[in-house]
Amino acid sequence: KRVAILISGRGSNMAALIEAARAPDYPAEIVGVLSNRAAAPGLQTAAANGIATASLAQSKFPSRDMFEDTMTQVLESWGADYVCLAGFMRILGEDFVNRWQGRMINIHPSLLPAYKGLNTHERALADGATEHGCTVHFVTPGLDEGPAILQARVPVLPGDTPDTLSARILVEEHRIYPEALRMLASGEAALA
Ligand code: GRF
Repeated sequence: KRVAILISGRGSNMAALIEAARAPDYPAEIVGVLSNRAAAPGLQTAAANGIATASLAQSKFPSRDMFEDTMTQVLESWGADYVCLAGFMRILGEDFVNRWQGRMINIHPSLLPAYKGLNTHERALADGATEHGCTVHFVTPGLDEGPAILQARVPVLPGDTPDTLSARILVEEHRIYPEALRMLASGEAALA
């Protein structure tokens, strides 16, 4: 199965997927990385791993639909069967989401359905949460609302800051994202 990854920044989850997909028995291959920011550091990492890259700035397009149609053309040129969102910081329109329904997944830094949206670690700390984590889920039209494939939990510890908490969770993100993609690509996980 051929997988494209959409990023906007650092790309550490992307790197974890690239690394996992190197295993000979992994059921998916990473065929391209697309960023909506040309300066995303993850693009360098992908290129250094010999993976095709592209960047498309939404601001250069007259509408979100035209931006997303062009993204689709790039993904199709790579022959992508699946799309992984990995720190892609744009909300996707309904046409794009429907086109990839059941074949597009995202990693979100909270135990969904808790803390959809941004600044999840700040909000969990402000609430005095004792547990926090991350979720890999199918992308559906509602933001951060699709069914979960895998979750990982971590404790919130005394003295935690958004940075220490996010670092603890990132380790788990890098573990569960490759495992969730493996489940999707092997047919073990499917959108009902
Ligand atoms: C991760 O925390 C991910 O959960 C969120 O955005 C961040 C991306 O980090 N969606 P990276 O670019 O994968 O390093």
